[in-house]
Amino acid sequence: MANYADFNLGIYFAGLEQDNPPSYPVTFAGLEEAARAKLEHRLFDYVAGGAGDEHTQRANVAAFERWGIVPRMLAGAVERDLSVELFGHRLPTPLLMSPIGVIGVMTDDEHGDLATAAAAAASGVPMVASTLMQDPLEDVAAGLGDTLSFFQLYTPNDREVAESLVRRAEAAGFGGIVVTLDTWTLGYRPRDLQHATFPQLRGYCLANYFSDPVFRSRLAASPEEDPGAATMHWAATFGNPSLTWDDLAWLRGLTDLPLLLKGIGHPDDVRRALDGGVDGIYCSNHGGRQAASAPALDLLPAVVEAAEGVPVIFDSGIRSGADVVKALALGATAVGIGRPYGYGAALGGQAGIEFVLSCLLAEADLTMGLNGHASIADLTPDVLVKLR
Ligand code: FNR
Repeated sequence: MANYADFNLGIYFAGLEQDNPPSYPVTFAGLEEAARAKLEHRLFDYVAGGAGDEHTQRANVAAFERWGIVPRMLAGAVERDLSVELFGHRLPTPLLMSPIGVIGVMTDDEHGDLATAAAAAASGVPMVASTLMQDPLEDVAAGLGDTLSFFQLYTPNDREVAESLVRRAEAAGFGGIVVTLDTWTLGYRPRDLQHATFPQLRGYCLANYFSDPVFRSRLAASPEEDPGAATMHWAATFGNPSLTWDDLAWLRGLTDLPLLLKGIGHPDDVRRALDGGVDGIYCSNHGGRQAASAPALDLLPAVVEAAEGVPVIFDSGIRSGADVVKALALGATAVGIGRPYGYGAALGGQAGIEFVLSCLLAEADLTMGLNGHASIADLTPDVLVKLR
């Protein structure tokens, strides 16, 4: 059983022996500041920004601050087990890397999806690989090692392209399909609007489409010959405003892999999803980037209750190991992080991502231990106290 808190000691000893401070910031605020200094300013704004006046993403973080963890003493939680069960797999930790459809161009070498896959392989933390990748999904899957990972589908309005993407993900070895529902069209994002820029419209991170035989069959000229026209075809087919619950049977029929729906926040939507045969619920407000004013953490308990034991993944606003513990205590089976590992990728590629994961896991491990909890199963709502 890995002792994730030892990461802390390693930092202190490196400082003692070689006067060697850590290579990257150990807080979210530090990561964000360093990424701001490094990334091209429009790319940084694309990642850091969100919908509307951005109070939604601030509220995601504030929601965690309204919960405290009640400390329990002399509980003997010296060894902690952070492992969780998900779709028949035992994961070493409850952490996942949420899909970031621009991670491909966030690393120095512009192969950020491969860096994320390598970090997943090294850490055992699953990658949820976005439809929007700079490298084709087959290349990304090849780098995942034995780590269970998921393919995230943005359902295009061309059903045969959707089917082709899911078939490819299945053949490549992904262990589940996450269908993101909250982005059937793009949210109102002032930073990107002010810059009049959107990375994919400039042709970035479209490798899964440009390598797809069905997508390619729709084009008069190949993406290599006419990338502009291929990009415009992508833009015309990316969103799917007409997708409704009636289409769930079709989505379900596309794969025997575990199927999850991302963007769920209402118990009735959970029940419709379960009626339609999905295997997991992914409760998220897209990090405050899509529907302005959508809560996230505050919706989790009702989502978990409606899920009746079906796994619930949660993301949006997790910034620390204590936040990981709180989301698990509120019923999440596993939790995703977005921007934190994105900034790690920007600062140091695979090594930067692994550093961020190690910090979060060390803090989660210590938070559990110091509060007297030896396993994830101990994390129930009554370990929390609601603050003002
Ligand atoms: C995202 N997110 C996202 N979600 C998704 O389903 N497919 C995608 O391609 C993307 N792309 C994406 C790009 C960027 C730059 C960000 C920041 C986020 C949403 C992501 O999966 C996750 O829901 C949020 O990032 C979680 O919130 P935090 O951890 O960033 O607060």
